[in-house]
Amino acid sequence: MGYNIAVIAGDGTGPEVVREGLKVFAAAADRAGFTYELQEYDFGAARYLRTGETLPESALDELAKYDAILLGAIGHPDVPPGVLEQGILLKLRFALDLYINLRPVKLLPGAWTPIKGKGPADIDFVVVRENTEGLYASTGGFLRKGTPDEIAVQESVNTRKGVERCIRYAFDYANRDDRRGELTLCGKTNVLTYAWDLWWRAFNEIGDADYGHIRRDYAHVDAICMWFLKNPEWFDVIVTDNMFGDIITDLAAMVQGGMGVAAGGNLHPGKVSMFEPMGGSAPKYEGMNVINPLAAIAAVGMMLDYLGQPEAAVWVEGGMAHAISQMDSLAAGQMGMGTSDVGDVVARFVAEGS
Ligand code: IPM
Ligand code: MN
Repeated sequence: MGYNIAVIAGDGTGPEVVREGLKVFAAAADRAGFTYELQEYDFGAARYLRTGETLPESALDELAKYDAILLGAIGHPDVPPGVLEQGILLKLRFALDLYINLRPVKLLPGAWTPIKGKGPADIDFVVVRENTEGLYASTGGFLRKGTPDEIAVQESVNTRKGVERCIRYAFDYANRDDRRGELTLCGKTNVLTYAWDLWWRAFNEIGDADYGHIRRDYAHVDAICMWFLKNPEWFDVIVTDNMFGDIITDLAAMVQGGMGVAAGGNLHPGKVSMFEPMGGSAPKYEGMNVINPLAAIAAVGMMLDYLGQPEAAVWVEGGMAHAISQMDSLAAGQMGMGTSDVGDVVARFVAEGS
């Protein structure tokens, strides 16, 4: 069985961390006995600065045919903010209808968390973020723009279908063997009374009808920020909208040891899905072999799980913990070993189990 993987290494340190991710993927393929083909795409700042093009329309049809996409990072100081984010990352999410943003938040053994007194037993939850609607739908507009009386309206779009498919995915996730069977809805029912009324009703109706065995809970988004720091052990699976999910997953990334280890998946279950490290392109570290590749390696672990290789995903996590035990720090430039060394350690562990 062969997988077809598209690789968008991107800008800055993206190519360096993707290289290590693919090293680990190759080791996993060898051991698990599957084959694959890679196709690289050069979307990112360099191509944009050369051609003015972010993502050609034809690329979307082509990318839709892969089993998965591995994305390094996009972003460059010479490109105005928003151009590449809108033109590549958000465009892929919308055009490929990648309606789930999945963010596992797990403190691996040996990884440092800023939360005093909490360890790996306390920090192990998953955020399911809606990825195609809400404030990211980009509806609204200006009135009297540029005058003293100007008005800017930015609307949050919440369709019953979009909310339902996200909530169902989250319930199914909470039902997995490796979860505890608890789902928390994170919203703002006390203030945003249209959007969160819809979410609340959908959450409870779907839960009552089809997931009676999953324990349900609710937390306001502001309160969940407090609890992520105070009681992260309370959480198993969390479901929320696009904007709240964006914010709480950056907080969660710090709780799990920082951007050096945080990865996410942009999913359309059953179709092409895209996996990425959360850390950005970090241009100041480009080409120095000092960036932490573990987040990209974690993205590869998620990709393996998505492709139907959950055992290989477990090997990758074991390899990450093994690497962490040899590293001085998870921060770029302070790891005590190079980017490629970290990849070598994880790949060897995946290949040999030690
Ligand atoms: C993320 C990022 C993106 C987002 C940006 C780069 C558009 O912050 O994946 O969380 O806001 O969704
Ligand atoms: Mn974000």
